[in-house]
Amino acid sequence: MTTMTSTTTDTAIDVARHTTLGWLTADLDRAVRGHASDAETADAVSRALAPYLGVDRLLTDQQREPDPERYRQHVLHVADDGAFSLVALVWLPGQATPVHDHVCWCVVGVHEGEEQEIRYALDGRRLVVTERLVNPRGDVSVALPPGDIHLVRNAGTDLAVSLHVYGADLRQTGTSIRRRYDVSVAGGAG
Ligand SMILES: [Fe+2]
Repeated sequence: MTTMTSTTTDTAIDVARHTTLGWLTADLDRAVRGHASDAETADAVSRALAPYLGVDRLLTDQQREPDPERYRQHVLHVADDGAFSLVALVWLPGQATPVHDHVCWCVVGVHEGEEQEIRYALDGRRLVVTERLVNPRGDVSVALPPGDIHLVRNAGTDLAVSLHVYGADLRQTGTSIRRRYDVSVAGGAG
């Protein structure tokens, strides 16, 4: 009986590891360890994440489910020790984040559709647009606090899904957002 129980448990773990998402989380777990700086960690995570972007059946239909009211976050995985969290953000056309920055390093890969990103710098009590990017499927970008102020939106006509890896335990924080910026933007929000 002991052998049967052990075999059943091992098989269940084995199946979980051999899903594509299981391979991704294992690769990310290796990538986040042992680096001297957040920039090096984010670079290793970017290289680990990129091959999975756009891969069929990486996510279930449930993990791609949007919310008609606002962009939606699905937590896919949190490392046992909280070293990183992997989430899918799902956007319907026109949905956007607030202008915000982050509590930790962040790597974003576009899995499906196309996202527009606007980056800002704080100039006294107002924001100034520093960069406007269009990030297609397969694109990877990095945000490193401080000074990582941005807005992301789905400016396309189809569903957009991006995978976000954060150097934080979202079981504890609930969100990667450090601060929302409800201040004026020179020349308009973008
Ligand atoms: Fe962000």
